[in-house]
Amino acid sequence: MNIVIKFCGMMAEVKNVGFVFSLALIFLVAPIQSEGSTFPEQIHIAATEDPTSVIVTWITFASTPDSTVLWRLHGSAIKLQPVSGYSTNFNDGKVKRFVHRVKLSDLKPSTKYDYQCGSSANWSSLYTMRTLGSGPDYSPVFLVYGDFGYDNAQSMSRIRAEVNAGGIDAILHVGDLAYDIFEDDGRKGDNFMNMIQSVATQIPYMTLPGNHEYYQNFSDYRNRFSMPGGHESIFYSFDVGKAHIIMFSTEVYLFIEFGVKQIGIQYEWLEQDLKKATTPEALAERPWIIAMAHHPMYCSTVSFGDCNRRASIIRAGTLVAHSDPLEKLFYKYGVDMFVSGHKHIYERMWPLYDYQVLNGSYDAPYTNPKGIVHLITGSAGCRERHDTYNEQPDWLAFVNGDYGFTKMTVHNGTHVSFKQISDDQDGKIVDSFTVIKEKPGYY
Ligand SMILES: [Fe+2]
Repeated sequence: MNIVIKFCGMMAEVKNVGFVFSLALIFLVAPIQSEGSTFPEQIHIAATEDPTSVIVTWITFASTPDSTVLWRLHGSAIKLQPVSGYSTNFNDGKVKRFVHRVKLSDLKPSTKYDYQCGSSANWSSLYTMRTLGSGPDYSPVFLVYGDFGYDNAQSMSRIRAEVNAGGIDAILHVGDLAYDIFEDDGRKGDNFMNMIQSVATQIPYMTLPGNHEYYQNFSDYRNRFSMPGGHESIFYSFDVGKAHIIMFSTEVYLFIEFGVKQIGIQYEWLEQDLKKATTPEALAERPWIIAMAHHPMYCSTVSFGDCNRRASIIRAGTLVAHSDPLEKLFYKYGVDMFVSGHKHIYERMWPLYDYQVLNGSYDAPYTNPKGIVHLITGSAGCRERHDTYNEQPDWLAFVNGDYGFTKMTVHNGTHVSFKQISDDQDGKIVDSFTVIKEKPGYY
């Protein structure tokens, strides 16, 4: 079992529980959050729609005179340059938090920058980030996972090792974070954000909402993250390498107590975004359309949910609002992949539409696939433990129940590969496949 502790502002994660308790006898294990403090914590960066800028976000528990990032080119001897931002605040139960955001612009692609954030009241340590790349030869590598919480954060050490090794461009967390982000007046969310700070200060940590963020209409989630697009981090898209990545909310279909209007708003946005991303010019530049959300359209798990239903709301739509089926929309615009979580398992499907397997060929099923390739990667580690699976239906290609996460590489305009890395098996790659599209465009 992993345990995360904080001592003197430093996060430490150890797998040996006995060691933790020994340590606790020597040092007082301090609470993660620092209520009333102006010290910056929970620092993370996000990509924007523009590859030359990033947003730095952090939290304090008291207001500060300003919200500032000091930055310079990594390793440069020049004085750190200030950039100002703004702060907002939100209350979660008894705790008041101040969220600070600063946008850094005119950055160079694939370049490291040193930075620290805070205000004249208190400054953070110095961190180093790397921007996303650009250009025709850029092959971004992502870690993709969902269902990763503060308790039982099984994959944290391995994720950190991957990021520290320098080969990862961004993390895509497809919902369910912290478990639950609002618990204990949001302190669970604070603990989680401090836990991921060691990676989220280095590369963009991109998120979308899952069902565990539902509290008060996803208020903690909306307040804590700074995803692009102007929709409070609920849905957005960004271009990276040869891929157009769409991050959206399946939760709008399931938490209709917060209003069905948002289903239609997101649907309209999705269709407009897909239209723009699939013009011949756009596809020539970025042939891959990769959509991600929290709930799957298909799953084989024993625990029952929307994805087990033939008439899944996420896949086949709902009558309560303007909402044509998402699968139909994605198929119409030739979405290549749909990556989700929610089920605490890894499942890879054959190219599908309406439960029909539409392989490109039986010898090489992911070469010019004629349908959407679905992937569930929800096993990074959460307190609800693993899901188990039923006998494999014919549309399911592979299933693995280990804790772990996915590494996705957009090699170029014709190849995207996926590797499933098992934490249970010491980093062993338990699944690997490449989707090949010999020419851009629809199936
Ligand atoms: Fe979930």
